[in-house]
Amino acid sequence: MVRVGLVGGSGYTGGEMLRLLLQHPEFDLAFATSSRFERKPFAVAHPNLRGLTTEKFRAHDDLEHVDCLVLALPHGESQRRLDEFLQIAPVVVDLASDFRLSSPALYEQFYGENHSCSDQLGSFVYGMPELYREELKNADRIAGCGCIATCSILSLAPLFRFGAVRSRQAFIDAKVGSSAGGATGNPSSHHPERAGCLRSFKLTAHRHTAELIEQLNPGDCEVFLSATAVDSVRGILITGQVMVDPALTELEIRQMYREMYQGEPFVRIVKERSGIYRYPEPKILSGTNFVDIGFERDPSNGRLVVVGAIDNLVKGSAGHALHSMNIRFGFPERLGLEFAGLHPC
Ligand SMILES: NC(=O)c1ccc[n+]([C@@H]2O[C@H](COP(=O)([O-])OP(=O)(O)OC[C@H]3O[C@@H](n4cnc5c(N)ncnc54)[C@H](OP(=O)(O)O)[C@@H]3O)[C@@H](O)[C@H]2O)c1
Repeated sequence: MVRVGLVGGSGYTGGEMLRLLLQHPEFDLAFATSSRFERKPFAVAHPNLRGLTTEKFRAHDDLEHVDCLVLALPHGESQRRLDEFLQIAPVVVDLASDFRLSSPALYEQFYGENHSCSDQLGSFVYGMPELYREELKNADRIAGCGCIATCSILSLAPLFRFGAVRSRQAFIDAKVGSSAGGATGNPSSHHPERAGCLRSFKLTAHRHTAELIEQLNPGDCEVFLSATAVDSVRGILITGQVMVDPALTELEIRQMYREMYQGEPFVRIVKERSGIYRYPEPKILSGTNFVDIGFERDPSNGRLVVVGAIDNLVKGSAGHALHSMNIRFGFPERLGLEFAGLHPC
């Protein structure tokens, strides 16, 4: 068994990591931390875990040596305590955005601050198995990807990889559920303000844009991202728009997606001719580690509209982290991530 510790177990991504780890046959949870719920059972913070365990949270600095340490902390904490965390485990998986980027300049541009250990940027493998499977097999530092970034990168990557994008600009609009903001409330997540909302919250300069620039490597095409809060708890839906060669057929585009994602356990290309679920929809992905991707060519021009959907707390964070850990420790990739979702839900 691989012993795993979790720092920040009381939040939303930490809760999903607990749910996945507690049911995983090869990972053994050694501890999880919280200050708000210190010495209280996990189920006080995550009632869905009732009956699965009687374990209790411990303090954030009460760490012991483990084989793998997962960090589910607010931005900034993992860079502040990096040296300490590296002493605790030979493999560290950080779900936050502290080490996702390689470029200090991009980090400064999008985070508006200097990184406190910028020499360590680039020392983590970006935790996206579809792009970095080989690197993850030996990675001792894994950076969980941003949730909007995960959905956007996977939805658009084949088009950039195979040189199908002809436009100078790619536009992505992301609709985001409230759990993306974490478990601690703020005025915008207060129920009377959030319920029923359709609220633009980041029209320009979204931090995840930096991940798109690094991972899509779009060359001379600029990538733009805007984000809207919607009235759901889980889920991200992105709509990406690019111009492609007007001579390119839908079949050829589909072949690009097939070629890149053939054999990928958690990527599904959705292309139904009829029915209400003919495009990807986050609702039916709740709790699953799938990304569903669909697209449509505008018949009158070269515009391609791509739609991608995920559960931000699973494929967008804890799920892709666990998938990366399965690869790192040599377990079957689907292990512990087989949940097929619910319908209806
Ligand atoms: N939510 C998403 O959809 C999502 C997706 C991908 C990545 N992420 C990233 O994952 C990280 C966690 O996100 P989240 O949504 O789970 O946040 P969250 O719900 O707010 O949880 C934050 C966790 O960090 C702990 N914590 C807070 N301050 C701390 C400190 N100073 N030292 C140690 N622990 C501290 C909290 O524990 P106590 O308050 O109990 O001490 C809690 O367990 C963030 O960096 C976020 O950007 C989130």
